[in-house]
Amino acid sequence: MKKIVILISGRGSNMQAILRTAQDEQWPVEIAAVISNRADAPGLIFAAQQGVPTIVIPSDAYPDRAAFDAALQAAIDAHAPDLVVLAGFMRILTDAFVQHYQGRMLNIHPSLLPSFVGLATHRQALKAGVRIHGATVHFVTPQLDHGPIVAQVAVPVLPDDTEQTLAARVLEHEHQIYPQAVRWFIEGRLTIVDGIVRIAEVGVA
Ligand code: GAR
Repeated sequence: MKKIVILISGRGSNMQAILRTAQDEQWPVEIAAVISNRADAPGLIFAAQQGVPTIVIPSDAYPDRAAFDAALQAAIDAHAPDLVVLAGFMRILTDAFVQHYQGRMLNIHPSLLPSFVGLATHRQALKAGVRIHGATVHFVTPQLDHGPIVAQVAVPVLPDDTEQTLAARVLEHEHQIYPQAVRWFIEGRLTIVDGIVRIAEVGVA
């Protein structure tokens, strides 16, 4: 049985999508913990209602990034997870932390990477006038929003879109591709070759 730890900072709708899909599809996984860097993250309530242990490591209680990441790493490693899932975890992570989970930490970013890294991706997309926007699931590497790409979804930008309408349209699709990417990982189908993700067919080693 594979173990997963999910990190959130807020709403946690991607975490909810993963928990629901894991339950509906009866994945052979244990969601060992949901960890938030904010005590008021609404997603913690859903996780607790599902019987998933929740942990708060308040980022503002640590003197610096390294101290917070060390505490976070200790809390994660107490569960010895096979996979760490960043689901709206709004923290820049230190290189040491990222390297510790190299090849076993996924993130979802609300743009078609490598376009629009960082924050306010929907505003960036509207400002650039792109007709197609989307979301990307990728392995986390030290360079922000640059790791090997596991899954992407393209979403049209409509003439009257605001940041909010575009974000909502992208989010619906995030809830499809993130559980799918996590499923591929736990099925052991993902390998990284020269920085490119290969997805094995079912039943093929
Ligand atoms: C999602 O849109 C996710 O892609 C984004 O934050 C939102 C979290 O929503 N993540 C990032 O911007 C990471 N750089 P959620 O808490 O409802 O899953």
